[in-house]
Amino acid sequence: MNVWLFGYGSLIWHPDIDYIAREPARLHGWERRFWQGSHDHRGLPHSPGRVVTLIESHRGHCDGVAYLVDADAIAATFEALDYREKNGYQRRNITLQLTGNEQSTQGVTYIAPEGNHAYLGPAPIAELAQQIRTSEGPSGRNDDYLLELARALRELDAHDSHVFELEAAVIGGAA
Ligand code: SIN
Repeated sequence: MNVWLFGYGSLIWHPDIDYIAREPARLHGWERRFWQGSHDHRGLPHSPGRVVTLIESHRGHCDGVAYLVDADAIAATFEALDYREKNGYQRRNITLQLTGNEQSTQGVTYIAPEGNHAYLGPAPIAELAQQIRTSEGPSGRNDDYLLELARALRELDAHDSHVFELEAAVIGGAA
């Protein structure tokens, strides 16, 4: 069976996987937060950056993109993604909603749960912005990750006050 993969961070604008279809999608009961440390992509072991994870939220939701992965490609795709998301993320089965479709669909996403070895948790926006502005790793600058995410969300017509507030703080602080 083909599998829907839900992406809410870099997977939105840089999936780097083969897929059959790409659809805007929403995950109910979760919100996106820059609470996960990145020691391997947007930071370094001694100076981690910050990337997004999902936090349970009874009334909240998270907008992103769902990719339909062909049954024949599932093993190789998830092997590659497990490696890419190895710094604290776990694969998790979810129920997602494809935008424009009333029906729910089963899928998979990568969540970095609270307490994982790279988890950094909440901090004031100014502190998050400062860390994001000054971090960089093998995949590039941490602020590029944030700005790409904000751009991709606008393209999807999706609002995320946490991301947009952080974007404003990073841009404002750089001025
Ligand atoms: C995702 O994009 O869905 C997971 C977090 C990330 O790799 O940025």
